[in-house]
Amino acid sequence: MRKVQITETILRDANQSLMATRLPFDDFAPILAKMDEAGYYSAECWGGATFDSCLRYLNEDPWERLRKIRAAMPNTRLQMLLRGQNLLGYKHYHDDVVEKFVELSIKNGIDVIRIFDALNDFRNIKTALEATKKYGTQRTVASGCISYTQSPVHTVEKYVAMCKELKAMGFDTICLKDMAGTMSPAEAESLIKGIKDAVGDMPLVLHTHCTTGMAYMTVTKAVESGIDVIDCATSCFSNGTSQPATETLYYALSQAGIETGLNEKVINEVNDFFKPIKQKYIDSGTLNPKSMATDAQALVYKVPGGMLSNMIANLTDMHAMDKFEAALAEIPAVRKDLGYPPLVTPLSQMVCNQAVTNVLLGERYKQISKEVKNYFRGEYGIAPAPVSKELEEKILGEGGKPIDCRIEDQKRTGEELAAAKAALGDLAESEEDLMSYICFPPQAEAFLKARKEQRERVTTYSITEA
Ligand code: CO
Repeated sequence: MRKVQITETILRDANQSLMATRLPFDDFAPILAKMDEAGYYSAECWGGATFDSCLRYLNEDPWERLRKIRAAMPNTRLQMLLRGQNLLGYKHYHDDVVEKFVELSIKNGIDVIRIFDALNDFRNIKTALEATKKYGTQRTVASGCISYTQSPVHTVEKYVAMCKELKAMGFDTICLKDMAGTMSPAEAESLIKGIKDAVGDMPLVLHTHCTTGMAYMTVTKAVESGIDVIDCATSCFSNGTSQPATETLYYALSQAGIETGLNEKVINEVNDFFKPIKQKYIDSGTLNPKSMATDAQALVYKVPGGMLSNMIANLTDMHAMDKFEAALAEIPAVRKDLGYPPLVTPLSQMVCNQAVTNVLLGERYKQISKEVKNYFRGEYGIAPAPVSKELEEKILGEGGKPIDCRIEDQKRTGEELAAAKAALGDLAESEEDLMSYICFPPQAEAFLKARKEQRERVTTYSITEA
């Protein structure tokens, strides 16, 4: 019997896409043991935004959150999303930091590490892959991930060549990451058939979003074309900018005679559990109804779900929502100037922020962000297509050239870890604390300070009591 397995994304991408990752651990803790019986291929539960949100908004130690999920779900593969050499943030870290981060992720409970680079510059995912192989256990899966996008330079042949490269590098599976939900059924068919012809023995995963309304058709075509795993979200947290619904796919696949391995009763119970939680965040305004709608405009703007909801949040904060349409319309122009980078973090933010700046200042590139300047210096890797010469000259000066090696090749090993130790002093109680600080310095420092103060209060209290 043909088998297509499902990854459940409620603990990461679904809540990231719909409600900016503001789901605290305590909200979903009671359902984890039940989720462990569902029969998912994996449960995606960790990644850049989760980590950041834990420290910044939820006052949670992201590592502790992971350990608690691990303890409650011993039978399910836990999955994370790793931005290659960027780890969880926007800058490139040195190889020793990347290696340590991967080691600790596996040690704290991660099984599937989905590794991607925003530009599909695979020099940037090599270190994370090697570390996964070095520290991985029998259940560890290194998944090589391609940031899917459409542009004049992104052809089926180019994607097939990327898959061959991922296979040669030693990845266990390949994931197509369609973060904007712009992959059409026809594109899925030619792409997946092409990939299966070339590297058919490797399990192929499709990650998409319902943003544009195409996901169910695309997933159906992907299944017909030979996909092995699809990412879905429990139905009350599905659709809109999130993934297609787990239960819906379960029924559709079952009726087509395809085995998913899912337990029907359990996946329905999981959804029943999350229904009131969703309502709570709609009532509080954390879940913006706008992100639950279908927006076919993304087919023009190629804007991923998380980016769209962040842009709405930022413009609302600046009382500039009247510039929403204009900022959306500016995105394709900025993207062309940058050589058609896929719109995935951190490039989605770079392109989005620059487009917003261009619109708010009423002039293109009057102000250029540090990130865009670094991009032109080659610090993020090689752009998929030639960048705007005019903008390059404006940033690098006449005759200026971007670097031709990985940016981290110019750094000294040990530098970042030593700096973190020096900055934190006794605030850091573990290597995990140091990693939190390296990834998100101000947020981690504030969190660790609060943790220390809280412990001191507890200690003082118990001494007084005694
Ligand atoms: Co996604």
